[in-house]
Amino acid sequence: MKAKVKLNIYQNASIKISGSKNSSLPIIAAAILCDETVVLHNIPEISDVFLLIDILKDMGITSSFKNNTLIIYPNTIRRKRFHNKKINKLRGSYYLIGALIGKNDYSDFSFLHPGGCKLGIRPINYHLNAFSNMGLNIKTNHEKIIISGHKTNITHNLIYPSVGTTINIILSSCKIVGKTIIHNASIEPEVIDVCNFLKSMGINIIINNRTITIFGSSFLHKTEYTIMEDRIEAGTFLILGAIHNGITIYNIHPQNITYLTDVLHNCGYSLEINDNDITLHPHNKNDIKPFNITLSPHPGFPTDLGPLMCVLASQIKGTSYILETVFKDRFNHISELQKMNIDISLNNNLITINGVSNVINSTIKASDLRCAASLLLASTINHNYSIIDDIDYLFRGYENIKEKLNSLGIEFII
Ligand code: EPU
Repeated sequence: MKAKVKLNIYQNASIKISGSKNSSLPIIAAAILCDETVVLHNIPEISDVFLLIDILKDMGITSSFKNNTLIIYPNTIRRKRFHNKKINKLRGSYYLIGALIGKNDYSDFSFLHPGGCKLGIRPINYHLNAFSNMGLNIKTNHEKIIISGHKTNITHNLIYPSVGTTINIILSSCKIVGKTIIHNASIEPEVIDVCNFLKSMGINIIINNRTITIFGSSFLHKTEYTIMEDRIEAGTFLILGAIHNGITIYNIHPQNITYLTDVLHNCGYSLEINDNDITLHPHNKNDIKPFNITLSPHPGFPTDLGPLMCVLASQIKGTSYILETVFKDRFNHISELQKMNIDISLNNNLITINGVSNVINSTIKASDLRCAASLLLASTINHNYSIIDDIDYLFRGYENIKEKLNSLGIEFII
């Protein structure tokens, strides 16, 4: 699918931020652990969520999804082979492996390898090692992962605070009565959201710095839970407002994006931060200074906003630097931004951007979700149409994007 994008007249508007993709996916998977009904509010209507609901349906789990509320009726899963090709299309499908292990005393199933955005090789060896350390037998071939055996509660020492691994350990062990400990765990806000969801079903979880302790319970009672906001969507719109002439975002917890508001503040932008909204005021471009950031696990600057910050840097006079330390190969956006005349280069994992670039309209191609968002931002800079190929990636993570862009005076035609 292609999108035609251009700026008409920028209007400084207020944008309601949707529910978080990276919370919704593990929380929907975690819902299958519940012994009663689960009601989830603020679930975004994005393609990754629809895909996961479809996979659940194929697993025999009924749900209903309307007006951002998803009701899941978890039941017994007797199947042993989960080979729906849709699993291959979604990285977040790996949360179902953790949830399936967590659901039963005895594991005996096979699951296709998860898919997702192309950010270089994305192994799941940390997840599989953790399952194996819990006493499970893990075999893999080019197509699937085969899991069998009994699990037990242990202390995990992660070599890296991986988001997915931390959540999968929590899901797989939360029904084991006793104590599971994770050292060097990820403490991204989405991990905390998953823990809060499990707590709402009766699990006791204590988070102390990077150590998470789970006191499992064999019965998880019904719950009604509201998903946190999408802090990456919030960041995307704040960056868009910084490129243009200000913006207000609401339905958020500003403490979840202080890494971004701090950087913007240091660049010279004027921000008003309230309990549930942030306003970035119009600014004089000459007052804005370049930045130097390192993308790293929370509470560091999130890797998901790196490609978007490249576009902002191209509109700030001077040289900005972005060091990517999370993904080895999250650089697909660079060659496309170069086609748009942005002065950007890569040396190992250090990105250098010289501004101000005179962005020209082009035909460019998205190759992952945040690459698509980055090309979208770049396409809003001038008044001629840019054409973005494979824009479908964008719909994996941004709800009602066309309407939101239109309200800011940006044309977005599919
Ligand atoms: N890694 C391994 N082995 C593993 C797991 C991870 O080598 O078994 C490596 C990864 O290749 C990467 C690093 O560890 O280099 C970090 O990976 P992590 O496990 O922390 O990330 P993830 O769970 O794969 C989630 C989000 C990503 C987000 C990252 C970092 C979901 C579905 N995905 O991925 O979101 O970038 O955490 O915050 O929650 C996105 O939304 O665009 C996106 C890619």
